[in-house]
Amino acid sequence: MRNCLWASMLAVVLVAATGATPQEQQAAEPPPPWAYGFVAPPGPGATPDPASMAPTAPLDSSTLLHLPGNTLAFTPAQIRDDFGPADWYPGDHPPMPNIVAHGRKPGIRACSRCHYANGKGRPENAPVAGLPYAYFVQTMADFKNGARKSADPRKPNTYEMISIAKAMTDEEVKAAAEYFGAMKWTPWIKVVETETVPKTRISVGMFLPLEGGEKEPIGPRIIEMPENPEAAEVMRDARSGFIAYVPVGSVKKGEELVMSGGGGKTTACAVCHGGDLQGLGPVPGIAGRSPSYVVRQLFDMQKGSRSGLWSDLMKPVVAKLNTEDLLAVGAYLASRGASAVPGSASLVERGKARFHAYGCFECHGANGEGTDQAPDLVSTRLTEAEIAVFLQKPSPDARVKGMPTVAASSPDLQALVAYVVSLKH
Ligand code: HEC
Ligand code: HEC
Ligand code: HEC
Repeated sequence: MRNCLWASMLAVVLVAATGATPQEQQAAEPPPPWAYGFVAPPGPGATPDPASMAPTAPLDSSTLLHLPGNTLAFTPAQIRDDFGPADWYPGDHPPMPNIVAHGRKPGIRACSRCHYANGKGRPENAPVAGLPYAYFVQTMADFKNGARKSADPRKPNTYEMISIAKAMTDEEVKAAAEYFGAMKWTPWIKVVETETVPKTRISVGMFLPLEGGEKEPIGPRIIEMPENPEAAEVMRDARSGFIAYVPVGSVKKGEELVMSGGGGKTTACAVCHGGDLQGLGPVPGIAGRSPSYVVRQLFDMQKGSRSGLWSDLMKPVVAKLNTEDLLAVGAYLASRGASAVPGSASLVERGKARFHAYGCFECHGANGEGTDQAPDLVSTRLTEAEIAVFLQKPSPDARVKGMPTVAASSPDLQALVAYVVSLKH
């Protein structure tokens, strides 16, 4: 860690700290149950529920299962093997160190069993790919030293994570930190703003849609579920992503808090987490990660159940945020991909709004179907990169006819490109 980075982060903390008030109001708020994998908040004296971690039935070790387009085959027992779970995509990651691939008997289940071999993790555990080495090592020490617990005392797998950290040697921690840190984070969560969500059940901390497709009001919750429940739950397909349903308006609200501090409520996150929110030096990336995980951490830090060596830097950041603010922050961060995220619902949606704001529709039609002023965009032959260039520097013909230019530095560029790409067939 370079000194100047710490110095600038500390300066931010001091400025923010002078405006922070005691958290009496937040102290009364229970953990948002949806972020911890429960239906209702914990009652007084709640204890971990180990039964919710145990497999429901002995696993089938004879039927071979296949994923479409994948030549490998595994049985359900192999898929969930605690000390060497199936790895569907060995080409997606570097060779795994033993601790990641197999863990160590008896107490350390393989990291890949919960976090997946590619480190993408799931809402009920944590995304660990792309974490800075120094942060990874420090947070493992925090788990070990009792500085990182869950604010919801029922959450069973946090206890397991703690006992794993306690059992690991320094060498094993280093090997895991190097392995996961060598992979870049890539987004795999679609954020959808909505008033209603599929009704769900909870299986070992994860929300799964009920058969029958019935819906219910989303209320003040984020409901994160696999895009393909069978692929995620039965096959544990580490390429099968997630959908985060969030209340209407929460992405915009979160954007204000994250990007500009919401008028003094918090500190702009980019100061410490980097301009693209993908991390800066030892500070971890926060964009494009599971919103359930992010909200859980923010709440844990606010309550002090996560109070590691570096968590103090986050204290003033969360001090004045209520649970609804945390939800909005989680929704916005999840909607932010790595760099360009074509196909991400929220980016495409923002692009669609800009398409109207810029008056693109006047020439290209409301849905890019074309008018007598300009060609349709549905059958464009341009690639994503060429579209980006065209918007910055339209052809002479387009310019003469009045097509606006979009500055390379404009945050709208990426969204517009994503929207035009989404129109292509
Ligand atoms: C039983 C499932 C499970 C296994 C196995 C497991 N973890 Fe975890 N891990 C978790 C959970 C759950 C969390 C998040 C805890 C929370 O949200 O309270 C976590 C969080 C983490 C974090 C924090 C991520 C962050 O961004 O701060 C790291 C690092 C981590 N695990 C490393 C490992 C390593 C290394 C191994 C293998 C030796 C491992 N885990 C095995 C469940 C597991
Ligand atoms: C003054 C510097 C600073 C600012 C400003 C800051 N953070 Fe952090 N953040 C950190 C540090 C350092 C950590 C690591 C904390 C730890 O190790 O416990 C962290 C950790 C986190 C984590 C946990 C990451 C993980 O992998 O578990 C989240 C989530 C987070 N910050 C979100 C935010 C958000 C959202 C904002 C803006 C509203 C923000 N941070 C602003 C320094 C900062
Ligand atoms: C005043 C009319 C007008 C407006 C407004 C306009 N365009 Fe165009 N656009 C054109 C014309 C005319 C062309 C065809 C130019 C040519 O063939 O050289 C074009 C071409 C394009 C192309 C290239 C299509 C291809 O396959 O070659 C893209 C992409 C495009 N526009 C996107 C946009 C976007 C995004 C906006 C809004 C930011 C926009 N346009 C606004 C008139 C317009």
